[in-house]
Amino acid sequence: MSTGRIGWHNDATRYGRVSIAFHWIVVALVVIQWLLGEAMTDWFESDKELSFALFQYHKSVGFLILFVVLARLVWRLREPVPAPPPDQPRWQTRLAVIVHWGLYLLLLGLPISGWLTVSTSKYKDLPIRFFGLFEIPKLMGPDKKLHDIFGEVHEVMVTLLLILLALHVAGALYHHFVRRDDVLKRMLGRA
Ligand code: HEM
Repeated sequence: MSTGRIGWHNDATRYGRVSIAFHWIVVALVVIQWLLGEAMTDWFESDKELSFALFQYHKSVGFLILFVVLARLVWRLREPVPAPPPDQPRWQTRLAVIVHWGLYLLLLGLPISGWLTVSTSKYKDLPIRFFGLFEIPKLMGPDKKLHDIFGEVHEVMVTLLLILLALHVAGALYHHFVRRDDVLKRMLGRA
């Protein structure tokens, strides 16, 4: 176990402040994004004006997630990764690595598949605007077939994300309450 204040950078046993901030900012954005996605397609679907507005926020938050996750990945690849607890079975360490990289992959795949879905939509005159600040280009023109495929891919990725997140959170709680080690504490900056 390490003692003393944590720094900005990771070390061999602990996450630093930047990695911790990235982790919890992405958690907050993903929760907001999921709520917006459900609200615009399900909860408020009958209120056209509201669901349209929510859809525009969903697109903006998606691009924000893409940007933050890319920055997070750059940081992740330049930093040391705290080692797993020494007595952890190898299969658990392998599973954690697969889940983490699966999450990164989905966190990139979701905004990109969303971008492609919007790009191929029949509403070709509706621009993609980032929180009303500036326009984001479309990647291609309207195409009904591709639009349906990208939309399906986006939805499948949402389901996969929920499955991986359930595993991920179960793992974190298992470490904290069953193994009683520092794995969750170090992602909260308390190790
Ligand atoms: C949207 C939700 C979440 C996403 C996308 C996410 C994603 C990730 C990713 C990609 C990592 C790997 C970090 C690295 O590469 O070093 C990670 C680590 C971690 N996450 Fe999450 N996470 C989420 C929610 C949570 C929640 C709710 C908890 C706690 C209950 C949690 C606890 C942890 C812990 C403890 C680690 C560190 C694991 C270790 O040290 O090996 N995460 N998370």
